[in-house]
Amino acid sequence: MSQALDIREFRQTLGAFLTGVTVVTTINEQGEPIGFTANSFTSVSLDPPLVLVCLAKTSGNCASFANSKSYAINILAENQQHVSGTFASPIADRFATVGWCKQHTGSPIIDDVAAWLDCSMHEVVDAGDHLIFIGQVMAFGNTTQAPLGYLRGNYVRFALEQEAAVAMENPDQETSVGAIVEQNGAVFLIEKGEKLHLPQAARLGNELDDLSLLGKLNKLGLHTDVNYLFAVYENKKSKELSIYYRGQVADSSQVKQGRFYVFEEIPFEKLPDEATQIMLKRYIDEREQDAFGIYVGDERKGAIEPLAKLGD
Ligand SMILES: Cc1cc2nc3c(=O)[nH]c(=O)nc-3n(C[C@H](O)[C@H](O)[C@H](O)COP(=O)(O)O)c2cc1C
Repeated sequence: MSQALDIREFRQTLGAFLTGVTVVTTINEQGEPIGFTANSFTSVSLDPPLVLVCLAKTSGNCASFANSKSYAINILAENQQHVSGTFASPIADRFATVGWCKQHTGSPIIDDVAAWLDCSMHEVVDAGDHLIFIGQVMAFGNTTQAPLGYLRGNYVRFALEQEAAVAMENPDQETSVGAIVEQNGAVFLIEKGEKLHLPQAARLGNELDDLSLLGKLNKLGLHTDVNYLFAVYENKKSKELSIYYRGQVADSSQVKQGRFYVFEEIPFEKLPDEATQIMLKRYIDEREQDAFGIYVGDERKGAIEPLAKLGD
């Protein structure tokens, strides 16, 4: 086993630990707000109240955080996936698109987060290729907002999962369950007459049930795990609830019907309705932002890799 493969498997193993997503902020030497996305946040001690977060030494912000007397942990809400993307991307002013305020220490508290902790820097610990910032909590706030989850390089939205589960168990609710299946920047669509459809069925089911989504995907030759929920919405007119999962395929050589369209070449006007167009555009936006990148801490700067690459 090569060294490179070891690291990849190590990262994938760490990725099995389900976490929340935070944005860690402070004010730098120039008086500007700075921050980065982190899922390495952990509670440490109740008395005194201590928490920690780890930052890669390769981060351009590492020295500013290490020298800072305080920092804040912003625990992102389920609808703040874009904030996670912004604070993990090489964007010059990450604060341009979020509102924020100061609370106790002056470190930025981002608007509408699920919860926040404002900390004074208790200790900076050198640990391999990361620094551990142990913070003493000086002030905090909490809401009832569902937090954003992160697992195996994918965002998890718990409230959405619940909504889908309740709808699927309700016999009076008309539901359709669909899938956004991607292969290296291309989405799978099936032609029906003039229109192009995402794979869809009346229920999620299993591979042996031909009338279910998983059965249909199997029959189409798309061997994929559609484990992650992407969208749940109700059609205003028909009251039908649409539930969409997403998944990736490595190999499309077995595909029997339909084909993959690269993002730039999707004929959006041929999609069946506006809701599908909006949803697919959001998918592409998030994909391009590398929002589904996997991060578990590695040796390189900007340690985000699309999950597909990890399967190579
Ligand atoms: C969900 C997620 C969690 C992340 N967790 C961490 C982390 O705990 N520590 C870290 O150093 N980087 C983490 N990153 C990567 C950083 O956010 C990213 O590399 C950093 O913002 C790069 O910019 P910088 O060099 O300007 O700091 C994470 C990224 C994502 C998308």
